[in-house]
Amino acid sequence: MQEKILILDFGSQFTQLIARRVRELNIYCEIHPFNKFPEVDGSVKGIILSGSPYSVRQDDAPHFEFAKHHKNLPILGVCYGAQYVAHFNGGEVLASSTREYGRANLDYIKPDTVLFKDVPQGSQVWMSHGDTIARIATDFEIIASTDSVKVAAYHITDTKTYGIQFHPEVTHSSDGKQILQNFLVDICGCAQDWTPDSFIETTIAELKAKLGDDKVVLGLSGGVDSSVAAVLLHQAIGANLHCIFVDNGLLRKDEFQSVLDSYQHMGLNVKGIDAKQRFYDALAGLTDPEKKRKAIGRVFIEVFDDAAHEIQGVSWLGQGTIYPDVIESVSVKGPSATIKSHHNVGGLPDFMKLKVVEPLNTLFKDEVRKVGAALGIDQNILGRHPFPGPGLAIRILGDITPEKVDILQQADAIYINNLRSAGVYDKVWQAGAIYLPVQSVGVMGDERTYENVICLRAVESLDGMTADWCHLPYDLLAKISNEIINNVKGINRVVYDISSKPPATIEWE
Ligand code: XMP
Repeated sequence: MQEKILILDFGSQFTQLIARRVRELNIYCEIHPFNKFPEVDGSVKGIILSGSPYSVRQDDAPHFEFAKHHKNLPILGVCYGAQYVAHFNGGEVLASSTREYGRANLDYIKPDTVLFKDVPQGSQVWMSHGDTIARIATDFEIIASTDSVKVAAYHITDTKTYGIQFHPEVTHSSDGKQILQNFLVDICGCAQDWTPDSFIETTIAELKAKLGDDKVVLGLSGGVDSSVAAVLLHQAIGANLHCIFVDNGLLRKDEFQSVLDSYQHMGLNVKGIDAKQRFYDALAGLTDPEKKRKAIGRVFIEVFDDAAHEIQGVSWLGQGTIYPDVIESVSVKGPSATIKSHHNVGGLPDFMKLKVVEPLNTLFKDEVRKVGAALGIDQNILGRHPFPGPGLAIRILGDITPEKVDILQQADAIYINNLRSAGVYDKVWQAGAIYLPVQSVGVMGDERTYENVICLRAVESLDGMTADWCHLPYDLLAKISNEIINNVKGINRVVYDISSKPPATIEWE
């Protein structure tokens, strides 16, 4: 049985970060909303209680059955989690009179405390709370303090319950990872054996048991997630996996053929479908971004369904859904993990009565990449920038025509090839060119031109939720601009987007 840590989400913006830190230590963990805590079985080695935008002093503060688990399992309360345990077990939490936000130092650490093994006196931690633990019950002992927070950390004597008012999961807590490791390994006894290889081995065994001789159909997109899902399924059920890769006419230049070739090279049973015209027909005259997205989604389902019907006796739909798309968010003051409508979670059309198999739905994106690498998938696919499902249709502002797609594909290819040859591609989180339906005056030779504008976008980001524009070298931008204007007919001006998200978004539509 896969051992695991349960993380109880009280709605903190940092909950997912705790999960990532735990997993970086090769320990499997799951996030559950505080009000839907699962039954605890022998696989659970410990519980982490997250922070929260709530105060324990509020009438509607989120609760958890602490008494039921306390003494049976190690528990680590972080921020709200620590205050919750202190407040409802004989202590008192009050609004803080001093500033408890930002960097602080653990000036006092109780000697020989397991939670702080190898953590130096004075270690920097990150505080972020408006409340503070003012008093603790007699069976609690203080194990760390800062100059303004006396109960920075506590331990309930004769138990494996600990509370820390700072955030070990953020990088500003310089020994945060060590503290988490002390809790997970020394206190919970976790084995640290959850690795990409062990994930692959267990997942393939589970897929074999679940699918038997059934057939699965899966739509490939050229992206990392669907490719890794396909290779896992392929290793589990071989030729019973039928992949479909649709050319919607909105992919990057030559992408359809080159990706199709790599898939075939990987031994996948994949059918490529040229549906360009169906998409262009559905998009004709549409200018509203949401209408374009809907039209593309609708046609994709039609094309996919037609192709799936050609496979006899298929009973499962494979999907590359990843963990952030399925984590149930806690709606406290706004969900901690907002699910974007455009990501089509569980996008199973009613008329395809298939069961769904999602081999990656417990993994974060960086973990999917590691699993992909362990499966031997080409870096050309794994290292790819994210690319939106509606593709170039949301990078051509306004209505779509095959001519505009062709112009954008040429400009985008020049841009991306230059990023690659300058060694910049892998440092950028996402890049792409945008076609602006704006004409401006230029001169070429002796002639006055009146042509369109290409905008270049490149951002740095961790997860696409926030992003910064990349400071690409001027000489590289100059080279790209020259090449585009000299080679792409219909373009006489190139601009660079210097907006961050928020308030802008990564895509222009
Ligand atoms: P925004 O533009 O919202 O983009 O800042 C954040 C990330 O999401 C991608 N994106 C999409 N992906 N369908 C997708 O599959 C869409 O409709 C869509 N819109 C944006 C975007 O490329 C970026 O990675």
